[in-house]
Amino acid sequence: MKSKEIREKFLEFYKKKDHAQIPSAPLVPDKDSTLLFVNSGMFPLVPYLLGEEHPEGKRLVNYQKCFRSDDIEEIGDMRHTTFFEMLGNWSLGDYFKEEQLKWAFEFFVDELGLDPGRLYVSVHRGNPDTGIERDKDSVRIWKNIFKKRGVEAKDVDFAEKEGMKGGRIFYYPDKENWWSRAGVPENMPPGEPGGPDSEVFYDLGEDLGHHKRSPFKDNPCHINCDCGRFIEIGNSVFIEFIKKENGFEKLPKQNVDFGGGLERLAMITQGKTSIFEADIFLPIIKEIEKLSSCNYRDMVRSFEIIADHIKAATFILGDERGVTPSNKEQGYFVRRLIRRAIRHGRQLDITSDRWLSAVAERVVEVYKDIYPEIEKNADHIYENLEKEGSEFQRTLKKGLKEFHKLNEKKEISGEEAAFLYQTYGFPIELTEEMALERGQGVDKEGFYREMEKHKELSREYSAGSFKSGLGENNDETIKLHTATHLLLASLRKILGSDVYQEGSNITSERLRFDFSFDRKITEEEKKRVEELVNEMIKKDLLVKKEEMKLDDALEVGALASFREKYPSKVWVYSIHDEKGDVYSKEICTGPHVKRTSELGKFSIKKEEACSSGVRRIKAVLL
Ligand code: SER
Repeated sequence: MKSKEIREKFLEFYKKKDHAQIPSAPLVPDKDSTLLFVNSGMFPLVPYLLGEEHPEGKRLVNYQKCFRSDDIEEIGDMRHTTFFEMLGNWSLGDYFKEEQLKWAFEFFVDELGLDPGRLYVSVHRGNPDTGIERDKDSVRIWKNIFKKRGVEAKDVDFAEKEGMKGGRIFYYPDKENWWSRAGVPENMPPGEPGGPDSEVFYDLGEDLGHHKRSPFKDNPCHINCDCGRFIEIGNSVFIEFIKKENGFEKLPKQNVDFGGGLERLAMITQGKTSIFEADIFLPIIKEIEKLSSCNYRDMVRSFEIIADHIKAATFILGDERGVTPSNKEQGYFVRRLIRRAIRHGRQLDITSDRWLSAVAERVVEVYKDIYPEIEKNADHIYENLEKEGSEFQRTLKKGLKEFHKLNEKKEISGEEAAFLYQTYGFPIELTEEMALERGQGVDKEGFYREMEKHKELSREYSAGSFKSGLGENNDETIKLHTATHLLLASLRKILGSDVYQEGSNITSERLRFDFSFDRKITEEEKKRVEELVNEMIKKDLLVKKEEMKLDDALEVGALASFREKYPSKVWVYSIHDEKGDVYSKEICTGPHVKRTSELGKFSIKKEEACSSGVRRIKAVLL
């Protein structure tokens, strides 16, 4: 069954059950709420899961483009990707476990034709520490479902230790069977919704001999074992809890969030054992075979990394909220994806000009009917791939030479890693990966310390005149500094999240703020930005300061200006609006005022071009 047909069948199946189809949200979220990328179908629906009414009703269905950077290390195992599409259906306080599990099963078996004897399921074991009970309801429902199809369905606990013992329904702890955007209960911040879930797995067959060859061979094989025999194809989350300061409370309504990975369903219905051989990836793999004259099956890892990374980069660059490669946030992820793909291109001896675009063209071809934005933004995609590609290709060869010189060492030092980064543009993750391939470590902490040292050096040289844009600290400059954060957040609200800080300079009299944007802003936009800043000032909002690890800060979407100059621990300043939503969140050394009302009245004096693609605003506080 073609992937297009699977998508359509899913939508039709749920539309017949009164679900309204909603569009895929952009990959880049609109507010920097928690993550840099939409990582699941439920992400854009959080307000509705918390109780807000959705304009389309209580039953929704869609497909959603997702990006998960956490899975970047898994690529090469034939079943993981960073970019994927999630088929989703939701009940917002409408149906619950009974209907959901029955329908998910019907879709797999009756619509896609999967053999029920090859399906296995997991349920939540319960956790005395959080007070969440074992999910007996789901067990009862699953037993009935399987019984109707004549499939024996025993429930078994501790399969991870004791093996499957002929079971069909398995209990697992939070790590496997609890879902929230933040993961397990301990990682959820107060206010975050989540709940136990029940996953469906497909058995690819024991005869593949996965388990015996896998790193898990010393433990019994079970459905969550990762040896490759079982593959998860869908997850029904029962979002009925909200995290509070002291544990969990029930949400006012019981919700369902189902997500199923389209690529995996395509692989199974097309009788393949690698998602990269399903129709959704095959033209891309074929193109790489053509460019490299190697075979996919001989060089699985490099092929999958290139195919996945160029696909993901195509979608991120071509998103409705399009991104450009840079040293910060989403832009930094695209840069990393492209650079890593280029390095694996070398492994495959790909030498042709414009090969990144050639691969991206296949991606656009496969997806343009479903995600028209990537065809619309195709020029932006190819241009940036080539620009970023040719820059890195220039330095890569020399960088690799330097890297090979370090061959004899047990560990690459922080200084050496910093040198590779600063001189040849090797992201730390790339150095780590290449070092690991030859059994070598990298002193990552040392790398960050080194970066910090450079920051200190440059700070000394510039006599403190550019860090945070503050030349001197007095009451006026501190107020203007907080005003700068409100200005950036408001510019991003009005002009879009492509706007980033490019520079800042503050004196006692005025702020000067440079930001990325490619045209003059209109009088109307200027007025709205000014009004927004003043509104936030009037609301007397608290300016919160937290210490965070750099990676964590970036992960929660704190804005950064010069990523490479930050130390491994940073301050994050955030301003939340009266509803508690993040209005501004930036990595910054401060200082700032305590509350926004201290600023007075904000007024933009001038808006002008600064350099190509960069605008400059001068503003004062009255
Ligand atoms: N949110 C769940 C997941 O991503 C189900 O959609 O797996």
